[in-house]
Amino acid sequence: MTALMPIYPNRLPISFTRGDGVWLFDEKNTAYLDALSGIAVCGLGHAHPAVTKTLCDQAEKLLHTSNTYHVPEQVPLADTLARLSGMDEVFYANSGAEANEAALKLARLYAHQRGIDRPLLITMEKSFHGRTMGTLSASGSARLQQGFEPLLEGFVHIPFNDLSALKRVIATQSDRIIGIMLEPIQGDGGIREVNADFFEAIRYYCDEHDWLLIADEIQTGLGRTGAWFAYQHYGILPDIVTVAKTLGNGFPIGAYLTRGKANGLFTVGKHGSTFAGSPLGCAVALTVLETLEKQSLVAHAQQMGTQLMQTLQEKLGQHPRIVALRGKGLMIGIELDRPCRELPKIGLQHRLLFNVVSDRTIRLLPALILQEEHLDLIVSRLTAAINELE
Ligand SMILES: Cc1ncc(COP(=O)(O)O)c(C=O)c1O
Repeated sequence: MTALMPIYPNRLPISFTRGDGVWLFDEKNTAYLDALSGIAVCGLGHAHPAVTKTLCDQAEKLLHTSNTYHVPEQVPLADTLARLSGMDEVFYANSGAEANEAALKLARLYAHQRGIDRPLLITMEKSFHGRTMGTLSASGSARLQQGFEPLLEGFVHIPFNDLSALKRVIATQSDRIIGIMLEPIQGDGGIREVNADFFEAIRYYCDEHDWLLIADEIQTGLGRTGAWFAYQHYGILPDIVTVAKTLGNGFPIGAYLTRGKANGLFTVGKHGSTFAGSPLGCAVALTVLETLEKQSLVAHAQQMGTQLMQTLQEKLGQHPRIVALRGKGLMIGIELDRPCRELPKIGLQHRLLFNVVSDRTIRLLPALILQEEHLDLIVSRLTAAINELE
């Protein structure tokens, strides 16, 4: 018996004792090739020396003081995030859901500033924005929402990439709409990329009506897709951007970034957090960004992603069970012709770590430090696992 809540009753039968780069090691010191990176978190791989050094150095100096005082470490991190993203202002959160929650609050403030009392935010079916009541309500998954009703009101979900649905909602509800929120590539929704014309239409309508375009880059952001932010592939600049995951390489930190009309909405007393933007979190995140930048890991992720996709196409493209190969950079989805929830467990036998989203899509999110020598290993181990699937 244990007091541990069984929130994850179906964990894989393994635990890890240490990591090194793209490798994780179990109690017996068996090495597993990690093609999941803690679900897009450890972009620099495990136990990255620069991150470890900053963690130790900063922990020796100061962990936390609270936002009652100036926290100098918040400034260079904000400036770096703003420079890389094209946004103006930055503040912090402790997770992806919290960063999105802040974005939702910003949208509400923006609405009220414009005299809209019951605002609507357009979000996408199959989207995933988090597990807080606000972000769960914004998400497009009835399965995750079930049991938590009444959900927060103020969201209209439309099918992802459905321009006619977007136009229909706008035609009927434009006086209450305040913004549109999307993941440029849906992660949990099955690695589904936004169509350029859909994204462009969203930007157009947001400009036309002065609405907020909110990009959830929590999974796609900070190099994962081969650009600092996935929206940069499309030449589109959102009004609010949220990040987390890769930002701390395992240290929990998120951020929300604003520009133009979304700046300055959080006036005194409107938002806050005990932990967000701690000296430790900010020092680690700055090291993560500096390392990504110094080592040109975003371009590297683009190159490795292209090569990984090519190898997958060569080796698995004609496989009878593969329906589609999708993704950008090192965010890759392999859709099978059948549900494959048990595949990650089979993968363990081949010492490869990955997960499955949307029931039948294998999701690969390897560290951005991945090297050529790992590509064939990923594909051969994955093929062996797929071949064993019933
Ligand atoms: C696109 C997206 N948004 C939000 C979240 C929620 O982030 P967190 O689990 O850190 O709250 C996730 C997590 O998987 C995500 O992929």
